Amino acid sequence: MYYQPGVTPHGLPRDPFKSCVVPRPIGWISTINELGQHNLAPFSQFQNVTFDPPIVMFSSNQDTSGNQKDTARNAERTGEFVWNMATYDLREEVNITAEEFPAGVDEFERAKLEKLPSTLVKPMRVKRSPIQFECVYLNTLRFPGNPPMGAVDVVFGRVVAIHIDDQFIDSNGLIDILKIKPLARMGYYDYTYVDNKFQMVIPGSNKGLLAGLEGSHDKASEAS
Ligand SMILES: Cc1cc2nc3c(=O)[nH]c(=O)nc-3n(C[C@H](O)[C@H](O)[C@H](O)COP(=O)(O)O)c2cc1C
Repeated sequence: MYYQPGVTPHGLPRDPFKSCVVPRPIGWISTINELGQHNLAPFSQFQNVTFDPPIVMFSSNQDTSGNQKDTARNAERTGEFVWNMATYDLREEVNITAEEFPAGVDEFERAKLEKLPSTLVKPMRVKRSPIQFECVYLNTLRFPGNPPMGAVDVVFGRVVAIHIDDQFIDSNGLIDILKIKPLARMGYYDYTYVDNKFQMVIPGSNKGLLAGLEGSHDKASEAS
């Protein structure tokens, strides 16, 4: 099949677009507003964009009334946000925090999630989440889209502190992803989680390329 989004109909019972980019990691983002009220919401349009220094982004569409979502507004106004890794064990809590509550409602409380203070930023961390990034807001790219929800705020932040629960670091010093079972979004109402892995390295002996693949600043410097 073939279609041009917004121009020709896809002709399927459900829009296939979101099912084509899978799986998507979930940015479970905590922020505070100017009054110090806590907010937590999931964003599957989330990624790291580079690693040295580490920078992440999340894409926040407008809410169902066409207004900017609390997470994007808080990040812009207070200059900080925290990324919490979403896991299979936390799936129900992730889901609860997606409800469209009025600004000022604390989704940590709604989902009965304990908070942990951060070290360099004010937004709290989700205690049960195995990995959290403390982030400083960099900028927003706003793309126009179809009302009410289509316009999007793509929010970028630099990761200034990283917390990894020691119980998920294995005896070789590697993150035990299969133990964590990170949650990911697919299309429709579908989710998945990481329950297998395999390894490949780029052919040839370019140490700089391999350092990039590994995401290692130290090895990249040695190789240059
Ligand atoms: C798993 C999951 C992923 C989501 N991903 C996004 C997303 O990428 N962008 C977005 O705008 N909303 C996304 N949502 C919806 C938001 O979480 C929801 O609009 C939430 O109410 C926003 O809260 P806020 O206004 O407190 O920021 C997602 C919801 C779920 C359950």
